[in-house]
Amino acid sequence: MKNYSFLLLFLLGILLVACSGDGKNASNADSCKTPLNPNGDSELALLMRQLSNWNDSLKTKLEKRALTAEEMRLPENVQTLLTAQRTDTTIDKALFKSMADFYLAQAEQFSHAGMQQADQVKYFNATVRACVSCHENFCHGPIKRINKMFVAETLPK
Ligand code: HEC
Repeated sequence: MKNYSFLLLFLLGILLVACSGDGKNASNADSCKTPLNPNGDSELALLMRQLSNWNDSLKTKLEKRALTAEEMRLPENVQTLLTAQRTDTTIDKALFKSMADFYLAQAEQFSHAGMQQADQVKYFNATVRACVSCHENFCHGPIKRINKMFVAETLPK
């Protein structure tokens, strides 16, 4: 009986070692979690923070009133989404580009949503969905924060 319990312990040990591996896998999902840049944040991380602040302020305004044409203008540097240096340089470039193009197309549509508050909300939410789509592929961390950016589509007229 003693021999068997040793065998069991041995197997348990193997299992533990196998499970506590460094957890690295081929997935891109957490490519934003560990800043690798010793000099600070990547250009992309800074752009993301800027876009997050922009979205937060648009949401606050949209919940009260229609946006002005000026407020719907896209940030001048939004196109740098395609070229900004990233923390993780190993991510799938083609997938990143297609997700970035999708976001930029949605943002462009939003900027031409017109002066009706309901339309603005609809197109704004489409941009937020495009943020989430890319994050589902590349970096899950901020999704919770991004989900709070949606504006209820049933605002009183
Ligand atoms: C094309 C893909 C893509 C799109 C679109 C995208 N993100 Fe990101 N986002 C990333 C990646 C990749 C990172 C990790 C940046 C890095 O560390 O280099 C990131 C990082 C972030 C971060 C963390 C920044 C930090 O402080 O480190 C936030 C917050 C964020 N994104 C919000 C948003 C919001 C809001 C939008 C929509 C306006 C958006 N993202 C659109 C790919 C995307």
